[in-house]
Amino acid sequence: MQQWWRDAVLYQIYPRSFADSDGDGVGDLPGITARLGHIADLGADGIWLSPFYASPWADGGYDVSDFRAVDPRLGTLEDFDAMVAAAHGLGLRVMVDIVPNHTSEEHPWFRDALAAGPGSSERDLYVFRDGRGEDGGLPPTNWRSTFGGPAWTRVEDGQWYLHLFAREQPDLNWDEPRVREEFRGILRFWSGRGVDGFRIDVAYALVKDLREPLRDLVLVDGGRFEDIAANPDHPLLDRPGVHEVYRDWRRVLAEFDPPRATVGEVWLPGDRRRLYTRPDELDQAFNFDFLRTEWDADSYRRVIDASIADAAHVGTAPTWVVGNHDVVRPVSVLGLPRGTDQGTWLLSDGRDPEPDLELGTRRARALALLELALPGSAYVYQGEELGLPEAAGLPAEALEDPRWERSGRTDKGRDGCRVPLPWTPDGPSYGFGAGGSWLPQPEGWGRWSVEAESGDPGSVLNLYRRALAHRPDFCADRTLVWDDTLNLGPVLAFWRGPGVLVLVNTGREPVELPPGEVLVASTELDGRLPGDAAVWLRRV
Ligand code: NOJ
Repeated sequence: MQQWWRDAVLYQIYPRSFADSDGDGVGDLPGITARLGHIADLGADGIWLSPFYASPWADGGYDVSDFRAVDPRLGTLEDFDAMVAAAHGLGLRVMVDIVPNHTSEEHPWFRDALAAGPGSSERDLYVFRDGRGEDGGLPPTNWRSTFGGPAWTRVEDGQWYLHLFAREQPDLNWDEPRVREEFRGILRFWSGRGVDGFRIDVAYALVKDLREPLRDLVLVDGGRFEDIAANPDHPLLDRPGVHEVYRDWRRVLAEFDPPRATVGEVWLPGDRRRLYTRPDELDQAFNFDFLRTEWDADSYRRVIDASIADAAHVGTAPTWVVGNHDVVRPVSVLGLPRGTDQGTWLLSDGRDPEPDLELGTRRARALALLELALPGSAYVYQGEELGLPEAAGLPAEALEDPRWERSGRTDKGRDGCRVPLPWTPDGPSYGFGAGGSWLPQPEGWGRWSVEAESGDPGSVLNLYRRALAHRPDFCADRTLVWDDTLNLGPVLAFWRGPGVLVLVNTGREPVELPPGEVLVASTELDGRLPGDAAVWLRRV
C-alpha cells in the first residue's frame, strides 16, 4: 500500500536507551535488532528511530556531525542495514529522524566556516553576523535559544553565529542552495538504504527572515518573547519559504518506490500546522495538541474534532501522540494535580507534589485505549507500552540534557523520560545491557520490565498488545462518529468501523455499560465502566 502510514502505529525508539548489546551502558543498533521481536509482538507497524548519526551528543544526537554515518558507539552502517533487514523481515517499517535545522559544531562544514573567516562562502552555510555595540560585543539580535541563554555565540574573530538550540548546534542557512542540495543527498542516501520514511526535526523553523536589519523579538505579556500567536510574521518560525523545502523533498522522495513517507515536528496551531501537510508537501505532522490536553472529556473531544478536521482539510490522516523523548511521561503527568507546573515539579525531584502513580497509570491505560482507537496514526514512545513513569529524581550530576546547564540549572530537562528501558525484573541494568546504564535507572525499575509485564495479564504491556491486536477490526474505516445518545456524563463515546463503540470515562464515578462484547478494557468491569477507565465494545 502506498500510504501505509495513514493508520499505522509507529514505535519510537530512543536508540541510546532501548537496548545495549555490548555492555558499554549505551543502547545501540545491534541491541535494537536483537529486541525487534518485542515491537513486532506488541503489534506495531513500524519504528521511528531518534538520531543514531555520528554526533558529540551535546543534545543527545540531535547535534549531527555526519549525516551519513552511524555513531561508532551505536554501531556501523552494516549494523544499520542488518537492523532494517530484520525489521522488514518482521513486517516493520523503518522511519528515521532527519535534523535539517542545524548541524553539530563538529560538522566539517562548521569547522571549515570557522577556519575560513568572515565573509567566506563557508560561513554562508550558517548564519554568521557581526555583533552590535561599539566593538561588536553585543549579539546581533535579542533572540533566545530554546534551551536558555542567547541564540548567538561569539567566535574568536568576533563574529557571532545563530543557534536556536544549544551553542553546539549552529543553525544552517536554508537560503543557501548548497544546504538544500546536501539534504536532497541525505534523503536519497537513507532512502536508498531502505528506510520507509523520515521524521523531520523542528520542521517549522528551517527558514528564517535573514533580511537586514535582523528584527529583534518583542517582549509580550509579563516578559516572554513573542511567539507565533503574538506575531504571525515571526522572524524565526513558520516562515512562508519553508514550504518550498518540503515541496522539493516530496519530489526527491517520489524517486523511490514506494515514495518515502514524512512526518514533521511542527509545534504550531492546527490552522498553520496543516499547511505543512498539503498534498504536495509532507505526509503528516505531529499533533501536539492532543498530548497537551487535560484529562477531561470535553477538552479531548474539542481537540479530536479539530485535529480530524485539520487533517481532512488537506487530505492527510491525523497523528496522535501522548509522549516522546522531549516531554514528561504521561503516567506522571496524569498522576499530578491539574495545573502542576512540570518544570517546578521536576526541580523538586518529582516530590512536590508527589504524583499519584496509581491514578496516573489508570488514566494512562485509558488514554492508550483512546489514542489507539482514533482514526489516523499513533506514535508510541518506548516505555509507554510498559507504563513507565518519569524518572523525576535523577541526581543533578547525572543530567545530560543541555537544558540543565544552559538554563542556569533552572530547567531539569528531558532526561527523566530517556532512562534506559528495563527488560528483566533484576540483573545488571535490568536487562538493558550487561553493564550499567548511561542514565541511572531508579530503584525498582524492574517492576516495569518487559519480562515482568509479559507474564502479568493485567499489565500495561498486555493491554497494549490486546488493543493492537483488535485495532485492525476497525482501523481501515477512517471515520469516527460521536454517540450523543448515551448521555453518560464525562465520557467520550464514539463509534469506529463497523460497530465498535469506544468509551472513555474521564470522571471519577462509574457509568452503566451499554450492551456489547468487551474487546479490550483498561480495567476490571462489573457491568459498569469505572472512573478513569476506557473500553472498546463490539455491538451485539
Ligand atoms: C526536537 C527534538 O525532538 C529535540 O529532542 C531536540 O533537542 C530539538 N529538536 C533540537 O534538535
